[in-house]
This record gives sequence, C-alpha cells and structure tokens, in this order.
Amino acid sequence: MRQRIEIRRPDDWHVHLRDGDMLGDVVNYTARQFARAIIMPNLTPPVTTVDAARAYRSRILKAVEEGLVFTPLMVAYLTDDMDPEEIRRGAEEGVFTAAKLYPANATTNSAAGVTDIKKIYSVLRVMAEIGLPLLVHGEVNHSDVDIFDREARFIEDVLALVIKDFPELKIVFEHITTEEAVEFVNSNGANIAATITPHHLEINRNAIFQGGINPHNYCLPIAKREKHRLALRKAATSGSSKFFLGTDTAPHPVAAKESACGCAGIFNAPYALESYAKTFEEEDALDKLEGFASEHGPRFYGLPLNEEIIILERKASKVPEKLTFSGTDIIPFHAGSTLNWSLQS
Ligand code: NCD
Ligand code: ZN
Repeated sequence: MRQRIEIRRPDDWHVHLRDGDMLGDVVNYTARQFARAIIMPNLTPPVTTVDAARAYRSRILKAVEEGLVFTPLMVAYLTDDMDPEEIRRGAEEGVFTAAKLYPANATTNSAAGVTDIKKIYSVLRVMAEIGLPLLVHGEVNHSDVDIFDREARFIEDVLALVIKDFPELKIVFEHITTEEAVEFVNSNGANIAATITPHHLEINRNAIFQGGINPHNYCLPIAKREKHRLALRKAATSGSSKFFLGTDTAPHPVAAKESACGCAGIFNAPYALESYAKTFEEEDALDKLEGFASEHGPRFYGLPLNEEIIILERKASKVPEKLTFSGTDIIPFHAGSTLNWSLQS
C-alpha cells in the first residue's frame, strides 16, 4: 500500500477568498496547500475593474502568512456593460488572468452578472483575440428550469452558441457536476476544459437530505445523482488534460448556512488535497493526481509548472467539527470525519 505521494505543488483554479475579516480567516488554508489560485470576483461590489482587482490582490497578499509563497490570479467579473478595453488593459497590465461569466442571479453575489450572453459579445471577441480564458458558471437560472437540469440546459442554450460564435475562445467550464458536462468537454477542442471540486467527487444529492436537511452539503451547482458523480470521478482520474483541480471553496458563516434561506457554498480549503487524494486512491488512480492537480491547469492557462514538490503521507487527518474565528464559526467539508492522507508541512 502506498505510503507517500510526492507531486509538484498544485494550484487551485477556482477559489472564493471573500474580503475583510473573512479573507484573513480563510486565505491561509488555500495558501498552505496551493502555489497559485484563481480568485473569484463575486465580492460586494463585484470586481469589475482593473483597479478593483489590483486593490483586492494587495489585500489578499497582505493577509497571507509570512513564509508562505502564494500568487493570487485575479479575475474580472463580467457585467452586461463591461467595456472590452478594460479587459484588454487588465490582461496587458498582468492583472487579469481570466474573466468570469456569472449568469445574472445564478448563484451567490451574481445579481450584477450577465443577463444575455449576446450583451458581452464585444468582450468575448477581445478575449478570443488576446487568448484570455472565459470562466463560466454554467447554469441557467430560469425559474421554470428544474434546479438539477440547469447545467445541462446551459450547455444547450448558452455554451453551444458561444463555441460556435467564438471557436478560438478558451473556456473553463467550472465546477462541472453532470455527465453531460463531461461529454461536452470531451467532445470539444483543446480550448475547452473543466474544473472539478472535491465535494462533487465525493457526494451526490442524497447528502443534502441525509437524516434531515443538511445545509453544509448545499452548494451551486447543486450535487446531482450518483451516475453524475461517477462520471466526474472517471473524468478527473482519466488523465485527460481537459480536467483539472478547482475546489470552489466557498466559506459562509455557520449562521448564514443554517438559516431559513441558507447560502450555497462548501468550505473545503483546509483539507482539499487530502480530499482529492481520497478520491484518486479509491479510484486506484493516485498516479493521475499530479496531472489533475499540478499540470493540466497551468498548461491550459499557459503558465509555468510549479517546481516545488509537496508530500502527502498516509497519516490520519482528523477534520474538526467546526473552525472558530473571532467573528464566526465555519463548518469545513468532511467535518468530524477522518481522512487517510495528510499534507506534510
Ligand atoms: C459560491 C459562493 O458562495 O460564492 N457558492 C457556491 O455554492 N459554489 C458561488 C459559486 O461559485 O457559485
Ligand atoms: Zn465558485
């Protein structure tokens, strides 16, 4: 039985670090595990300008513990009236690594998102021209579409159109949750990739209702049926360069989760690598972990691979029931359970 996993230091291609006190509470969980991370721009107000992204990047770096080397990669939040030249400038100045499409009202802090994909065609044209990746929250949000079908509908209604109109555009279909998404990514060119979260590899929709309603397993896109989880596990561990690590770690205070209208999001940053290692070991694919965690992402983004090596050892990680911060508690993914792997510090 394997006792150690040695891989290049991974990157996390989808992270919510929040702002203010919570930024300080959560950032170092990510910075301890990952060299770089794609930072989601869904703050209030959202990060829609080069200046706002630069300022947010400084706040993140200030909150990183001494001794950790961590590079936040900033993302522009696309709105209906985004100026394509702002995107071009942000890319040229090395501030924007990507731009994010949130369909309006599809998820947390997405009210300012895009109401109709055609409204951002001038932005997509510039992005395709300069090679800036489009990150998509791939769900339609029409109230007449069943919540479990929203990702599959997004492929038909939006993604297929974008790919036809911008065949060169680099697209990351983020936090995919369905067999349909896996098939879509596999059947398109090398410019179409996807991230997969640790929780969508681990839970199916039953987990949200196990023994009563369980808000800590509620996130968006919502976990789907077992057959979809199995398709995601197969994709992640396949060795295909189209699939890479993106945790979608999304902390919310415990009171905001355990509420009559609980927030979507799972805080998985503290044991993210241990969780992925669990899945890859169960799938007998530990040899594929390095590609998924440390190689496919940088290659897609055209960034260098990290040189540093990290070690996961076979040693129990006991995940706390909750993490207590000065202002609030946050419940981590896998709370109260024990994982077989531990990241060496
Ligand atoms: C994210 C959040 O809380 O910001 N929530 C989530 O369930 N994943 C938003 C998002 O990525 O959809
Ligand atoms: Zn997210």
